[in-house]
Amino acid sequence: MGKGKILVTGGTGYIGSHTVVELCNAGYEPIIIDNLSNSNINVLEGIKTITGHPVTYENIDCKDYNSLERFLEKHSEIVAIAHFAASKSVGESVNNPLLYYRNNILSLINLLQLMAKFNIKNIVFSSSCTVYGQADVLPVTEQTPIKPASSPYGSTKQMCETILQDAAFANKDLNAILLRYFNPIGAHPSAEIGELPNGIPNNLLPYITQTAAGIRKELSVFGDDYNTPDGSCIRDYINVVDLAKAHVVALNRMVEGQNKKNIEIFNLGTGEGVSVLEIIRTFEKATGVKVPYKIAPRRAGDIEKVWADTSYANKELGWKAETSLEDTLLSAWNWQKKLAEKNLGN
Ligand code: UFG
Repeated sequence: MGKGKILVTGGTGYIGSHTVVELCNAGYEPIIIDNLSNSNINVLEGIKTITGHPVTYENIDCKDYNSLERFLEKHSEIVAIAHFAASKSVGESVNNPLLYYRNNILSLINLLQLMAKFNIKNIVFSSSCTVYGQADVLPVTEQTPIKPASSPYGSTKQMCETILQDAAFANKDLNAILLRYFNPIGAHPSAEIGELPNGIPNNLLPYITQTAAGIRKELSVFGDDYNTPDGSCIRDYINVVDLAKAHVVALNRMVEGQNKKNIEIFNLGTGEGVSVLEIIRTFEKATGVKVPYKIAPRRAGDIEKVWADTSYANKELGWKAETSLEDTLLSAWNWQKKLAEKNLGN
């Protein structure tokens, strides 16, 4: 007997696809909906290779209430939703805010309305450490004050958190776990799935692996004059498989009725702050491949430093990030090499 069906929105995306694999490993039956706006259908092949069987998938846009409703009519007995489907580029959100408000807010509202209609009680939501902005005190705990968002993307994450809190207050049958991700990096150790950036990467890790592969000439390190030990920005880089496993734990918690409140929030990070220059050095050490880089001006909107206090997640969820930074960076590199073989690299 399986543990039940989990609807995974955005299940062909970066974090969604890794979570689908971990859900299969844990005995759940994930069913994926995705509009492929920022992912590739080939991801389903990678998932199948890892898990040994195909996963149900339908091309559905969560903004489309009617399609979503028809889909849920067909799939009864969904025990929970893992909601990943959202737009996630900070820069794009500044240039196209309405796209972000429409995609990220409307999708969540549609899901919540339909959860009530179809009596689906549990949802895990992908939030972000972006909600903290530049915190005054580090590391950040779940109680750290929320600062005004610095981008429309960040606003959507804050608004979605508020929507979930209000919905859970009004409907005590609804259980929601909000997971605030720090910086997810790396790929599945099999190199069958990983991050698939569209065009020139915005994020550090895909830019590093593409530079190491010779696709990009050099990496720009955005600023070396921050108030940090080596002058470059500090983040908390969390392995994507470790992150995916936290979703399984969160879903188990709600499905088994172990949650202490009907809305709970957890930081998902390693608890370690690592600078951009340290990431480059560790990548070179782990892979033996050089990453040419230059120091460039600061990037607008970047915060100086942030890392997580993960003690609440460690204690309450019994979850901890386990993979070393070296192994995570090596997995990202192996995935980059696999992409070249599959001809999917940029
Ligand atoms: N960086 C570089 N060069 C690059 C790319 C990034 O030096 O080419 C630096 C950035 O300045 C930053 C660090 O690498 O210091 C990490 O940058 P990312 O773009 O990889 O990640 P961010 O921390 O800016 O953003 C991530 C997610 C967002 C989320 C945010 C929360 O991509 O979705 O964390 O802080 F909102």
